[in-house]
Amino acid sequence: MQKKILIIDDDHSLKLLMVKALSTSKINIKTASSISEGWFILEKEHFDLVICDVVLPDGDGLELVKKLKKKFDSLEFIIISAQNNILTAIKADQLDVFEYIPKPLDLNDLIISVDRSLKKKSSTSDHFQIEENLPMIGTSPAMQVVYRNIAKITKTNFSVLINGESGTGKELVAKTIHNFSDRSKKPFVVINMASLPKNLIESELFGYEKGAFTGAEKQTAGFFEKASGGTLFMDEIGDMPYDIQSRLLRVLQFGEFTRVGGRSSIKTDVRVLSATNKNLQNAVENNQFRDDLYYRLNVINISLPPLRERENDIISLARHYLSLYSDGKKQFDSTAISFLKNYNWPGNIRELENLLKRISVLTHESVVNSFLLEDHIDFEEKLNYDDVNKIKNKSEKENLRTYLNSFLNNFYKTLDDNVELIGLHEKFINEFEKPLILKTLEFCRGNQIKAAKILGINRNTLRAKIKKLQIPLKYGKK
Ligand SMILES: Nc1ncnc2c1ncn2[C@@H]1O[C@H](COP(=O)(O)OP(=O)(O)O)[C@@H](O)[C@H]1O
Ligand SMILES: [Mg+2]
Repeated sequence: MQKKILIIDDDHSLKLLMVKALSTSKINIKTASSISEGWFILEKEHFDLVICDVVLPDGDGLELVKKLKKKFDSLEFIIISAQNNILTAIKADQLDVFEYIPKPLDLNDLIISVDRSLKKKSSTSDHFQIEENLPMIGTSPAMQVVYRNIAKITKTNFSVLINGESGTGKELVAKTIHNFSDRSKKPFVVINMASLPKNLIESELFGYEKGAFTGAEKQTAGFFEKASGGTLFMDEIGDMPYDIQSRLLRVLQFGEFTRVGGRSSIKTDVRVLSATNKNLQNAVENNQFRDDLYYRLNVINISLPPLRERENDIISLARHYLSLYSDGKKQFDSTAISFLKNYNWPGNIRELENLLKRISVLTHESVVNSFLLEDHIDFEEKLNYDDVNKIKNKSEKENLRTYLNSFLNNFYKTLDDNVELIGLHEKFINEFEKPLILKTLEFCRGNQIKAAKILGINRNTLRAKIKKLQIPLKYGKK
């Protein structure tokens, strides 16, 4: 069915651009240049979405939206406004409008937002789709790049490699790409290479025939079959064993595979998205990841910024989660806002979300201040985030060893036999120790007691090392 959009903006050339960008056979667009004109049109006709500027010749666009929300409860809104106007952003947030786009307007952002608002609307009665319409919050420049990339590729079948630290939204991006693609009605299947035992990955991916191995009691479909027609999201792709990489490469090249223990090949129609929190290019250089597979998976690359680099988004995300989990009963004070902005967020959005979930459930204060936040940051839980897992996890230890081995191999390969090296042992130990201590301190936001505990060394020893290695002391964020 055709959707109707009303654009209210007094900037005529911008209006024209928007109309051009949004016009499709499925969308019918009208425009108005003032609040009164917009109101007049809306009283006569039904619209699905209003795109509204904040500053209009006869008043405040946000006030208009407030009134319209009361009068037409199924109407969706996108607010556009001059950039860096925090107040408008906050007001728009309070109005609970679906999207807020800063000016200068990025037309691709606009297209994505419109698409999302219209999809959101058409699915309010459709239970299955509600989760699919989870909006991605954030308008920081880095995220605008991400949105633009998503918009460009949804209608393609390109493979996408999504990079980013743990908790930055890689899976959400994958889901979003799927939801906006023509495959959205087909399955979105997730397989995590890091959480599967290595010897099961092959049979999980490609399925197996009865009797293929001990315990294979009946023919079983793998993830490739389960995702047929849809999207397969391979998380932590860097953990895929080398021999499986070769198999995957062949599947991607030839579009068909065989089940483990099977003979006949099965055609696949699956879009492959993958994600990693590692530097896969390094893995390629160290021969841990096949370069031909890397290029096949990485046709398009999307890099998600860490939360600490998205200062303004932290606040919108925090407000979103606080209001979601406390049913709108709690608010941040100004100390909380500055804490949220300055904290390092090693677990990124997942950590922020969990923190606010805990605060919503465990505390009764209606005003959330910085002390409350700090009290509920779960230090032990932080130990579970991937960066620290790298120290704890056995297979990661082995990766570190492989990495060091290949580094040392290269080092000695390029070394002249006659060169005199003095103190290589100490040099290398320092090379390793300095970043280890520095990163641990950063992780603990400068708290030496915590850092010593993680490192498992005495606090005085830590202090002595900080001095010896000339490690700068910082508190707060990186
Ligand atoms: N831009 C965003 N807006 C809202 N929520 C987000 C955003 N990015 C991530 N999240 C949420 O943060 C949590 C972690 O995201 P996820 O995609 O699982 O991260 P990753 O796969 O990178 O570890 C999820 O609950 C997800 O819905
Ligand atoms: Mg994930």
